[in-house]
Amino acid sequence: MEIFKKHIAASKNYVGGKSAEEVGGGRKMYKMSSNENALGISPKAVQAAKDAAEKLYLYPDGTPKRLAQAIAESYGNQIDHSQVIISDSGSSVIEIINRGFLNEGDEYIVTNPTFQLYRVLGIKMGAVQVDVRLEGDDFKLNVQGILDAITDRTRLLYITNPNNPTGTIFPEEQLDELFNAVPDHVIIIHDEVYEKYVEDPRYCTAMKWILQGKNMVGLNSFSKMYGMAGMRLGYGYTTPKLAEYLTKLTKPFSTNRIALEAGIAAVKDTDFLQKSVDHVHKAKRYMYTELDRLGVKYWKTEANFILIKTEEDPLAFEEFMVTQSIMVRPVNYFGADGCTRVTISTDEGNEAFIKALELFLKK
Ligand SMILES: Cc1ncc(COP(=O)(O)O)c(C=O)c1O
Repeated sequence: MEIFKKHIAASKNYVGGKSAEEVGGGRKMYKMSSNENALGISPKAVQAAKDAAEKLYLYPDGTPKRLAQAIAESYGNQIDHSQVIISDSGSSVIEIINRGFLNEGDEYIVTNPTFQLYRVLGIKMGAVQVDVRLEGDDFKLNVQGILDAITDRTRLLYITNPNNPTGTIFPEEQLDELFNAVPDHVIIIHDEVYEKYVEDPRYCTAMKWILQGKNMVGLNSFSKMYGMAGMRLGYGYTTPKLAEYLTKLTKPFSTNRIALEAGIAAVKDTDFLQKSVDHVHKAKRYMYTELDRLGVKYWKTEANFILIKTEEDPLAFEEFMVTQSIMVRPVNYFGADGCTRVTISTDEGNEAFIKALELFLKK
């Protein structure tokens, strides 16, 4: 008798960016491949983690309510802490949503090029991915295409805003048009893990639609702007009705003591957050100037990474950059053919990247 579920046995795991230790083997590397915070982690979060480490022999809080309260506060208490679902990463929140809503044969909609974990996790549920690709050179959302793709079996719609790997946003006005027309049996995941970096005034987080009662989850992560990718911590916020349901899928004591305390300190350290955002805004302008000078195609970004296109194969480009102690991410896998995603680094890292790129172009 077959012991494996066929869709799991046939599936492939997500291929994440490698760590600097894996690639550099002890050498100093500029890690510009996974959209981490160039300025590191808040010193207050580090202190909270150290203090918590002393108490690791004790169970943490049964539920991460204190962290949920700090997160709700960071949104000006527009939502109650009970509307925040915390897990060990943004990726895990996606998994919780999938477990909550996807049965075998159900459909979920994605808009490639985008973050590939939705596909990887959805397929393991035995669900069917429906891809409504972004349109044109500026990666516009195909609103009518999405609405036409919705069937009775559609359960989830993933909107990544700002989008990874393009760094572009979908404006509020266009999303209003889309979300007003999406029927209630479709849960919208507004993945906004890069939202703090957005400068475009046409941008809007999920909060607006959640407060209107739309069946939507705003997805966020401590890996990016909070500089805690190594911790593994993420959250979703949603309507009271969806939160009550999704919370049933979380486990007791699942937010470890260090993540809980460091997470609270990170959320409260708004000075560090602002410094991180200011750095990205300044550094991306330096990168634009240099990429223009070198004549390399790129897309203006609303996140902490820039999508570029070189004439040569992105894998060859990646390989060359590693020889220059720089890690970048080819994103063919994300559906952006011929493109590479470059995380904004420290000033030193960005300058090293430009120097290496110049060398590559002269080859
Ligand atoms: C768009 C997007 N969503 C979610 C995640 C998941 O982040 P994590 O699992 O590190 O919290 C990432 C990470 O790269 C991402 O780019």
